[in-house]
Amino acid sequence: MHTILTDSTEDAARLLNSGEVVAFPTETVYGLGACICHPEAIRKIFQAKGRPGDNPLIVHIYSVEQLYDVASDINEGAEKLIARFFPGPLTLVLKKNPAVPDCVTAGLDTVGVRCPSHPVAREFLRLACGPVAAPSANISGLPSSTSWQAVFNDLDGRIACILKGEKSTIGLESTIVDCSGPLPVLLRAGAITFEALQEVLPKITLNNACTSKESAPKSPGLKYLHYAPKASIVLCNPLEPIAVEKDSAYIGISSPPEGVTLAKQCLNPEEYGRELFSFFRRCDSEGIRVIYCELPSATGLGRAIRDRLTRAAGKN
Ligand code: TXA
Ligand code: MG
Repeated sequence: MHTILTDSTEDAARLLNSGEVVAFPTETVYGLGACICHPEAIRKIFQAKGRPGDNPLIVHIYSVEQLYDVASDINEGAEKLIARFFPGPLTLVLKKNPAVPDCVTAGLDTVGVRCPSHPVAREFLRLACGPVAAPSANISGLPSSTSWQAVFNDLDGRIACILKGEKSTIGLESTIVDCSGPLPVLLRAGAITFEALQEVLPKITLNNACTSKESAPKSPGLKYLHYAPKASIVLCNPLEPIAVEKDSAYIGISSPPEGVTLAKQCLNPEEYGRELFSFFRRCDSEGIRVIYCELPSATGLGRAIRDRLTRAAGKN
């Protein structure tokens, strides 16, 4: 299959509406979209990514009104989060509307719903013939794509089209909150921080699956290897000196250790989050064998960075 690269949201939406899989930019990471009204296109997403069929997809909507087409029994907690954080980098797990095909939700009775704020994503979703199911646009297990070039590297020849946009401004996947039960639970940390969620919903809790794979995961995707570059990841506390290996790299906020081949010192957690996955991909293309990653504390955006790092290191 020839993968079309385009800047035109109209051309990309036309392909999507004809039942094709189209990658598109969002403020978190690039998504790999198919219209939920085309179940055969949903199956193409799983094929293109090599994604296990028991891992449900997030449904992307253009406006809050569309929420009622995909979810039902929306409780007060969910309504508060929607009022505060939609559109934006937040996914809510809600009771599913029967109109959503089972192949989207992997047979669950809940559905993940997100309304992105990215202008190109919004225009694309507005032109779509309905809500758009989309996982991150990467081969399963690899780091998420934060640029169209990363999508192209992974999925050229496997999908119909890439809608080109700028590099993702957040660079980490959306925060996921389960609002389908009586009490809200954070399933995946992201740019909407736990502290910000707590301000709106003081009773929100952290799910064990956020920090451990011992318990039965509430979010099926959490049990799979994620975000892993070819290089091995070594988590480090930069206050402790390290004897670096040959062909190694460093990413973090503190200054890099002596002797690494490639280093990225970020100004703040925002830059660290934005650069992390593209740095992993750059390391792989430059033959780096070990990446030393500074482990931030689990507060604010640090919680999300820490989560991705420990998963990429296979420590979670
Ligand atoms: O920022 C993002 O969330 C990006 C952009 C494209 O929106 N999408 C993304 O999708 O990261 P994906 O498929 O790579 O990660 C979605 C995660 C998976 O771990 C999946 O298991 C979980 O969300 N998920 C989806 N639906 C769910 C549900 N009904 N209940 C629990 N977890 C769900
Ligand atoms: Mg993903």
